[in-house]
Amino acid sequence: MRKTVIAGNWKMNNDLAQSEKLINELKNLLQNEKPNCDVIIYPPYTSLSEASKLIKGTVIKLGAQNMYFEESGAFTGEVSASMLKSVGCEYVILGHSERRTIFEESDEVINKKIKKALSARLKPIFCVGELLSERETGITNDVIKRQILGGLNGVTEEEMKNIIIAYEPVWAIGTGKTATPSQAQEVHEFIRDLIQIDYSLETANDVTIQYGGSVKPDNAKELLSQKDIDGALVGGACLKADSFLGIIKSV
Ligand code: 13P
Repeated sequence: MRKTVIAGNWKMNNDLAQSEKLINELKNLLQNEKPNCDVIIYPPYTSLSEASKLIKGTVIKLGAQNMYFEESGAFTGEVSASMLKSVGCEYVILGHSERRTIFEESDEVINKKIKKALSARLKPIFCVGELLSERETGITNDVIKRQILGGLNGVTEEEMKNIIIAYEPVWAIGTGKTATPSQAQEVHEFIRDLIQIDYSLETANDVTIQYGGSVKPDNAKELLSQKDIDGALVGGACLKADSFLGIIKSV
């Protein structure tokens, strides 16, 4: 059985005091809940260390929003996988569309990051997704295939057990325009088929594929009821504890 994972990508939001406040609110709300899923938060780097202390003993797990693929050295401004491990991260988002478009990360760079994260025993949340222009010209599947094959190049079947895939259509991110459940399901199924061709039926059946892009408490249930949608990667709606909880409770 695949794990359902609800995760909150805080992006570049919340300083240290705001992070503490949000985590404490979430902890309070989760106190009387038994979530039917894994819950992960991705605060900015500057809050990770404190976040890791605050979530101890709770169901909340911790990840980072990015990392560099080198171990250490003259890479001003970058953070390594082992540094993230040292502050308590278990997961790392790689290949997010904002990294691909604003910071021009290529499939090749994302692939190096995925391999480095895996070798450091950090679990990658590997994001893929097409632009609006790509959907409109009917090349969604080609784009997704290029991103999946490029990002997973050289990743072993054993390593696939530690990867979560997130399908985030770029046109649905932060726009309030969610993919319809059937649009999302169609791409999720396509991704699972690609994994089956590249690995095996078992690996394809086991890999968690999250949907991301304007997920809110009021649309989460319908998206999550699709057979190949195994969770949500939430942006805007995870910045308020009650709406993030609403999504967690919809599982
Ligand atoms: P929104 O939920 O704000 O659309 O962001 C989605 C996202 O990019 C999560 O990584």
